[in-house]
Amino acid sequence: MDQILVVFYSYTGTSRRLAQLLCAQLDWPSGEIVERQSRAGGSGTVRCILDTLLRRRPAIRYDGPDPAGYDAVVLVSPIWAYGLAGPMRSFVGEQRAKLRNVAVISVMGSAGASNAVAEIDRLSGRAPLIAAAFTSREVLDGSCARSLQAFGRALQQASPGAAAIAGDKWSPRGA
Ligand SMILES: Cc1cc2nc3c(=O)[nH]c(=O)nc-3n(C[C@H](O)[C@H](O)[C@H](O)COP(=O)(O)O)c2cc1C
Repeated sequence: MDQILVVFYSYTGTSRRLAQLLCAQLDWPSGEIVERQSRAGGSGTVRCILDTLLRRRPAIRYDGPDPAGYDAVVLVSPIWAYGLAGPMRSFVGEQRAKLRNVAVISVMGSAGASNAVAEIDRLSGRAPLIAAAFTSREVLDGSCARSLQAFGRALQQASPGAAAIAGDKWSPRGA
């Protein structure tokens, strides 16, 4: 896999931090999903949960390179209410036709990544080549760095259209 793009959504900054580290490790470009409506305050947090539970697709803007120009796109986003964060659902739905291969990284407190991977599989119409999950703590204290780099190397070595690589084949923490 030669051309790889990292697309991230982050509410409180942790997924952004992980995406920036991955891009720095492998010299990959990135794009950001930005919400059109602010999620500040308590009502914003409630909306996060409702978006996931009701499978809503909030309005977004995408700032970054066209995903159509890449062999694979790494989708990085937080887990909300044991599922996919709404803005990433919007992105995958809107860009579905341009995503040749996807890989998924979930950032979370403790649980819910497998639901997000399953939803991206359904939404994009293709099984992610590789998926991983990191806790916020691992991102914030930097202990995710080695596993993150292993994830990137495994994706570079994956063949387009190959069967999905289970997370536990390359790292101690699969999604
Ligand atoms: C509304 C909301 C719901 C969340 N639900 C979960 C959850 O179900 N499981 C979990 O492990 N973490 C959950 N978290 C924690 C986030 O996934 C975690 O803090 C993540 O690092 C946030 O990423 P971000 O800083 O990029 O937004 C939730 C956070 C928020 C704000």
